[in-house]
Amino acid sequence: MAKYKIAVLPGDGVGKEVVEAAMIVLEQFDLDAEYVYGDIGWEFWCKEGNPLPDRTVQMLKKTDACLFGAITSKPKVDALKEISPELRDSGYSYFSPIVRLRQEFDLYTNLRPCKAYAGNPLNYRDDIDLVIFRENTEGMYAGVEFHPLPESIKKELLIHPKMKKFEDVPSEEIALSTRIMTKKACTRILRRAFDYARKFKRRSVTIVEKPNVLRETGGLILDIARNMAKEYPDVEFWEANVDAMAMWLVKNPQDYDVLVAENLFGDIISDLAAQLVGGLGFARSGNIGDEYAVFEPTHGSAPKYDGMYKVNPIAMLLATKMMLEWLGEEDMAETLETAIAKVIEEGKIRTYDLGGDAKTLDVARAVVGKL
Ligand code: IPM
Ligand code: MG
Repeated sequence: MAKYKIAVLPGDGVGKEVVEAAMIVLEQFDLDAEYVYGDIGWEFWCKEGNPLPDRTVQMLKKTDACLFGAITSKPKVDALKEISPELRDSGYSYFSPIVRLRQEFDLYTNLRPCKAYAGNPLNYRDDIDLVIFRENTEGMYAGVEFHPLPESIKKELLIHPKMKKFEDVPSEEIALSTRIMTKKACTRILRRAFDYARKFKRRSVTIVEKPNVLRETGGLILDIARNMAKEYPDVEFWEANVDAMAMWLVKNPQDYDVLVAENLFGDIISDLAAQLVGGLGFARSGNIGDEYAVFEPTHGSAPKYDGMYKVNPIAMLLATKMMLEWLGEEDMAETLETAIAKVIEEGKIRTYDLGGDAKTLDVARAVVGKL
């Protein structure tokens, strides 16, 4: 039996292409692993009314880690148009399979490093090295939403004085999404961020929130963060409002180090930070729980490029590097990152986002050539 069993979920569109690139590179390593492929994504929504079939969830449970390509996520109204009326009428509703996976497997940390590799012509500056810890299971992504707002809930909410002004609005004219934050989830994401900062001798941890407006949820995480910061005198602790952070990240990204944020804020600032170091072609993420982890590029399935082998696989390759690291194969992870960095620096093989005409798999082969 192989040492590791790794699930591979290519997903939709260019997800399949970048995963192919990752496998070309992984095959070069002496990793004692068995790879098992699974179904996920839009195709299964259209065919089965479920973008994350139960057989896939069961299969993942028997593996040590997962490499994930990309999926198409659409708003409910668009998704429902694309399945047969029978499936629609039997009560299926669309959900984002990657968000579901993160929650189902309690992958509470979404680790998103944004580092400027030397020679990347898209770097906003060359001295950016940010690491974002995005809470990955609740917050604005808790998924507790209503439309129309059930009368019983509306009635309960009227205990809050601010609800009064909605009292006479008809239920079908009110949509409600909740931001649920718990002490447990706030504590564990902050712990991961502070421990990381200490381990890698990072200068600072910044909590990115909006507690001046979101007083209860923002206040909860801020309070926990302030207390935890006292345990880490070796790490500076900074607080930032998310709106101001968006501006400062553009103004002085080099000043920041480890950022920690609630799910939606983390989603937003991580795309912003990704663009500072080359855009989605370079942005990778690790969805990491206590026992299991899923590694993916941050980009989506890019339907317009489907089948063209055009997109930059570096984000996927860097996600693969994160997986090797998480498995404890640090030497392999370092070898892979060094090879990727050489290809970027040399600049001979570049996909369209970098102004070149290389194809997805050309980049994979170039990385193999540097191993
Ligand atoms: C991400 C993506 C997802 C998210 C989408 C595809 C549901 O934007 O991983 O950042 O919102 O988390
Ligand atoms: Mg996102």
